[in-house]
Amino acid sequence: MIEFKNKLVLITGASSGIGAATAYEFAKQKASLALVGRNEDRLKIVKRKATEIGANSEYFIFDLYKLDMIEDLIDKIENHFSTNISFLINSAGFGVLGLVDNVPIEEFKKNMEINFYSPLKIIQRILPMMKKKNFGQIINLFSGVGKRGLPGVSSYCASKFALNGLFESLRVEVQKYNIDVILVSPGLVKTNFENNLKIFGDLKETFTKGNKVSPDYVAKQILYASMRRKREIILSHKTKLGIHANYWIPSLLDKILAKKI
Ligand SMILES: NC(=O)c1ccc[n+]([C@@H]2O[C@H](COP(=O)([O-])OP(=O)(O)OC[C@H]3O[C@@H](n4cnc5c(N)ncnc54)[C@H](OP(=O)(O)O)[C@@H]3O)[C@@H](O)[C@H]2O)c1
Repeated sequence: MIEFKNKLVLITGASSGIGAATAYEFAKQKASLALVGRNEDRLKIVKRKATEIGANSEYFIFDLYKLDMIEDLIDKIENHFSTNISFLINSAGFGVLGLVDNVPIEEFKKNMEINFYSPLKIIQRILPMMKKKNFGQIINLFSGVGKRGLPGVSSYCASKFALNGLFESLRVEVQKYNIDVILVSPGLVKTNFENNLKIFGDLKETFTKGNKVSPDYVAKQILYASMRRKREIILSHKTKLGIHANYWIPSLLDKILAKKI
C-alpha cells in the first residue's frame, strides 16, 4: 500500500485544471503539497483549499521555460518542506496547433520545452534521491496523441510522443529502485486547455469537440493509478479505439483523418 501522509508531492500546472484538482485529491490523503505554476492568484486559491482539506501546502511561482532555474526551484521546495520529493505529478502543459508548414519552429521548441524538457529536467534532479530512498512515483499527464499523430496537431503530438519514449526507457531503468513511472491519458477534459491553445493558420478541426470529463474525475483516477502503482491509464474509450485502430488499420485511419483538414 502506498503511504501518502506527510510525503512530499510536487505538482506542476497546479494553478489550473487537472493539476489543481489533483492537488485536492492528494490533500485528502494528507500529503504535503508543493504547487507550481505562474498565476499567483489561482495558486493562492489552490493552496487555501488544499490547506482547508488538511494538507501542508505551499505554492511556488515559477515559469517552466526557465529550465536552467529548475534545480534552484527543487532546492527551494525541498528546503521549505525539509524533505525530498516522493511524488512528482507533471500536469503543466499546453498545445500548439497548425499545419506543419504554418507553425514556426520556435513554437515547436516552446511546446517541447514545457511538455517534454521541463518534466525531464525535474526528473533528472529528483531521481538520484528517489533511487537512494528506494521509492518514488513519477506521473505525467499524457494523451492518445502521444501514440497516434493527428493532422494539425504535430507540435503537441511530437511533445507527447517524446514523453512516451522517455517514460518507456525510464520505467525500465528505475524498476529495480521501486520507482513507478505512470502515464495518464485523460481524454477530453473541461479545463482551460482549449482556451490556451496557440493556433497558427486556419484549421477546420482542432479535435477538441466531444464529451468532456471533469478534472475532478481525472484527479481521482490519478490517485487511483498512484495507489495501484499502474503503468499507464487511458480514461477515454475513443482514445483506446484510436490506438487500436492505428495498430491494426493505420492506412484507413490516415484516410479518415485526411478528410478532417
Ligand atoms: N484538457 C484536456 O482535454 C487534456 C487532454 C489530454 C491531456 N491533457 C494534458 O493535461 C495537462 C494539464 O492540462 P489542463 O487540461 O489542466 O490545462 P490547463 O487548465 O490549461 O492547465 C495547464 C497548466 O499548465 C501550467 N503551465 C503552462 N505553461 C506553463 C509555464 N510556462 N510555466 C509554468 N506552468 C505552466 C499552467 O499554469 P499557469 O497558468 O499558472 O502558468 C496551468 O496550471 C497538460 O499536460 C495537457 O497536455 C489535457
